Amino acid sequence: MINVAVFGYGTVGSGTVEVIMDNNDVISKNIGDRIDVKAILDLRDFPGDKYESRIVHDVDVIVNDPEIDIICETMGGVGAAYKFTKMALEAGKSVCTSNKELVALHGPELLKIAADHNCSYKFEASVGGGIPIIRPLQDALTAEVIQSVCGIVNGTTNYMLTKMDKEGAEFEDVLKEAQANGYAEADPTADIEGHDACRKIAILSSLVFGKTIRSEEIPTEGITAISARDMKYAKQLGRKIKLLARYESKDGKRYAMVAPFLLTPENPLYFVDDVFNAIKVTGNMLGEAMFYGRGAGKLATASAVVGDVVECAKNKGKNIPCDWTDEVVTLKDKELSSRRFFVRVGAEVACEAKEAFPIEEEVKVGFYDEFAFVTKVMSENDFEEKKSKLGAGVINYIRMED
Ligand code: HSE
Repeated sequence: MINVAVFGYGTVGSGTVEVIMDNNDVISKNIGDRIDVKAILDLRDFPGDKYESRIVHDVDVIVNDPEIDIICETMGGVGAAYKFTKMALEAGKSVCTSNKELVALHGPELLKIAADHNCSYKFEASVGGGIPIIRPLQDALTAEVIQSVCGIVNGTTNYMLTKMDKEGAEFEDVLKEAQANGYAEADPTADIEGHDACRKIAILSSLVFGKTIRSEEIPTEGITAISARDMKYAKQLGRKIKLLARYESKDGKRYAMVAPFLLTPENPLYFVDDVFNAIKVTGNMLGEAMFYGRGAGKLATASAVVGDVVECAKNKGKNIPCDWTDEVVTLKDKELSSRRFFVRVGAEVACEAKEAFPIEEEVKVGFYDEFAFVTKVMSENDFEEKKSKLGAGVINYIRMED
């Protein structure tokens, strides 16, 4: 018997219990042994819940229970989740998590503790919810030199941008609606400012590189500056605005960033709408492969957690290696990143803008209080320098993906 404990009986935690119980036969068959949820750790009581009798409030009860083999950490955050994960790994129990914040911040340390204690730390659910992406990168794609990883990895912002695109609605109105129907958190900062996507690309790029790329090092812009006007310009350009998280590696240089981009229909990410996520991986032999699916949500995310449980159960008493060391890599190669930019400036600085930027085309949708244009290909540094000359005259800018 494989006994599992779940840390945190919230949305993903309760989904994890549901997946293990409802798919018990197929999971047991795949492991080659029966599986059960022996305990659920939560501060709260759940009177009337089907699994009420399995709730415990003391982490020591679980960590000291020799019958419990695997922990599903679905608490979130980097406080108690970090402490309890370390306790579990030090007790030789494998931990499977959906906690991207903890993985991005302490992944290599937790992987090392797991290796030292003959157990595993697995985090498939931390990026792309139910979409398999971590394991393909570590397994199926290991014959490749990975040249880029680029994806839509935040469901909340993709839902909001899709609504704004389809309905011409303003950011604030869409955010309120997304909060009202449960797509956006009461505090949406991590999603709309791009922090959540940043943690996810930090994890993916660290895995590709095998060293640590810290999320604080990754230039990150969210979607708060995107307006209904931007959507009109995007349509005029035949494009859609998507929040992309990307990592690129070329000629030994590496660069990562999170920002809104204007995509054409030639890019498969153009068609990824609503809460769906997709991650496009480019390898030097393979070319492009795209992983698409539900990037968030109770059962999709729980399914990825339990997929990791199956792998840990099959490797009971052993460490599943992961090539990600704590050596920190600084991503300084901003010059690697050159592209065209869509820019809107106030009409009063149109002349200065024409002088400052190499303009490829003007974009007109009938707003006479501003001047909008697409630049020629420019480096990020060059763009930044020219933009800063115009100061508050720049209303907004969005990068063009070609
Ligand atoms: N807030 C995240 C999102 C949840 O919207 O994608 C899944 O990581």
